Amino acid sequence: MKIELIDLWFRYDLSVNDWALKDINLKLSQGEKIAIVGPAGSGKTTLIQLLDTLVLPTKGDILFDGISVGTLSKKKQLATIRRRIGLLFQFPEHQFFQESAYEEITFGIKNFFDLDEDTVESMAKDLLASFNMDIEMIKRVSPFNLSSGEKRKLALASAIILSPEFIILDEPTAGLDASGRQELIKIISSLKDTTIIVATHNLDDFLCIIDRLIGLSKGRKVLDIQKKDTMNFLQDMKNNNITPPLVLQIQRWLLDKGINLDHLYWEMEDLISYLRQKLELSPVKRNRVP
Ligand SMILES: Nc1ncnc2c1ncn2[C@@H]1O[C@H](COP(=O)(O)OP(=O)(O)OP(=O)(O)O)[C@@H](O)[C@H]1O
Ligand SMILES: [Mg+2]
Repeated sequence: MKIELIDLWFRYDLSVNDWALKDINLKLSQGEKIAIVGPAGSGKTTLIQLLDTLVLPTKGDILFDGISVGTLSKKKQLATIRRRIGLLFQFPEHQFFQESAYEEITFGIKNFFDLDEDTVESMAKDLLASFNMDIEMIKRVSPFNLSSGEKRKLALASAIILSPEFIILDEPTAGLDASGRQELIKIISSLKDTTIIVATHNLDDFLCIIDRLIGLSKGRKVLDIQKKDTMNFLQDMKNNNITPPLVLQIQRWLLDKGINLDHLYWEMEDLISYLRQKLELSPVKRNRVP
């Protein structure tokens, strides 16, 4: 699916001249891996809600495979778009509505596809195994009683089981510990053909899986670049109150000090092991303390 935003403006309260998004033009193609970054209140969640047709543009348009969202709305076809997009809310408990975690995962597949119970259970079991989650535990618990990492995984599993063309994630790693973050990122990076759009304050977490970066500031699109060019936009990011990835800030500093790297590193662990190797090959001479 292709999605195109054309001269899009959005405000929540029509009586107030306070635009949450201003004059956004954007083309999203199948298979892209995109991070949306921007300070709090810059419009990331609003943009995501528009992409999932949960709200409609105040001005301008969104085209889904060339068809205007207004037309789809009039024809009552928005549900067909939402079915092609899996969305992970910023607060996953806001999207849960079933009493058991198992029902939460299987609700969509039971309702959208004509599958018998055994097939559904076997699909859920396989998926949960790849998420390192036990189906028997999932059958017993309420989705609301899971840990925050498990809630995120449950919401992601509920989306993935439907094989959507797009998966949109709003702050998926917020509040998770390092292993929870790594686990989630590993799952997301395994979705090769799916378009991934992730809104995040933790760009370092996602640098290894994205190929494009979109920056928002005060409702405007201020950045739309390929990941490989990010190094040239660190100052632009700072100017727009977007925190540049730490791993790139360190490499900028090293390059400015005349320390050359063999290539750019997207993950801190890889940069550290490269530097360790480089320092061991040409050890730094330390001044002896007399
Ligand atoms: N339901 C709402 N009603 C009115 N205004 C809203 C609503 N939701 C968001 N806003 C406003 O719209 C603007 C954009 O908010 P949004 O939640 O999209 O930002 P964000 O980039 O996702 O922020 P964060 O990083 O904190 O999640 C903000 O000024 C916010 O106060
Ligand atoms: Mg948000």
